Amino acid sequence: MRVPWLDRHGRFLPLKAVVLLLGAIPGILFGYWWIAGDLGGRAVNDVIHASGLWAMRFLLVALAITPFARLLDWSRLLTVRRMVGVTAAAYAILHLLLYVVEQKFALLVVVTEIYTRFYLTIGFVALVGLIALTATSTDAWIRWMGKSWKRLHRLVYPIAVLALWHYALQSKANVSEAVFAAGLFVWLMLWRALPETWRRSVLAYPPLAVAACLLTMGIEFGWYGIASGVDPWRVLGANLSVAFGLRPAHWVFIVTACVAAVFTLRRFVPSKRAVSVNVVRSSGPTRVRTASGS
Ligand code: HEM
Repeated sequence: MRVPWLDRHGRFLPLKAVVLLLGAIPGILFGYWWIAGDLGGRAVNDVIHASGLWAMRFLLVALAITPFARLLDWSRLLTVRRMVGVTAAAYAILHLLLYVVEQKFALLVVVTEIYTRFYLTIGFVALVGLIALTATSTDAWIRWMGKSWKRLHRLVYPIAVLALWHYALQSKANVSEAVFAAGLFVWLMLWRALPETWRRSVLAYPPLAVAACLLTMGIEFGWYGIASGVDPWRVLGANLSVAFGLRPAHWVFIVTACVAAVFTLRRFVPSKRAVSVNVVRSSGPTRVRTASGS
């Protein structure tokens, strides 16, 4: 079996090595803090939260790789998409295992909880989906499944929606972080919905940032309106002013406006290695392998 940081000729792949290392860092740090006793009395619960958060983050990063490879004209980035998707799945599996530890290995209790608590049920469905995508992201599966491989891997989007829903439901009173993550996901979906010519135009990105911001406000308004006793109009009011601090929608605007700025600057810095991602993509899934759909 080949190690991920070497190619088939044994050459070192620095980008893959760096991504592998970055992916392992949260796990190593939390493992170390846990063993060193730095996490206090609720260590297992802390690592359950941390592993869930990192699973969510890596899932969003995996989905962001295609837009960023395009925006930065950096097709090589696509070669680490599978690795990032697998990292998300690994943290999600760890998250479940830690939950089993928290339940003192009482598997019947774990199964009952997953079956009866809605937020755990959708987390479980998302996890099964992630495992299925990971298991089928090998070269052999890509070759064997042909065109249906791509269709299967588009399931990563509903899986991400379930994971975000699970995230928001377990957040209880304050869903700000989950709404922020949902807003970034909305931006990624809007980008995918853009026609190809718009994706290449710097003019499309400021309105995209505004649209993602407004939709994030809508998500927060809807969430509080439907799922909590908090007056959603007050939440909307807080979104229309910054006097009470920044809301998730504002952060979504800041992040996606920065993306727009980076893309605009990138346009003025021609790259030597600018190999069109289109060329790579058109060569089909056997050349560009992913763990998270295209
Ligand atoms: C069988 C599957 C899963 C189980 C049993 C599970 C269980 C849990 C539990 C018990 C919590 C903490 C809730 C609390 O303390 O009240 C949690 C939080 C969380 N889970 Fe899951 N989860 C599962 C799948 C997933 C998946 C697939 C993802 C993402 C890809 C995910 C992401 C999260 C996130 C982001 C949090 C919140 C972390 C925080 O805000 O600190 N979970 N999960």
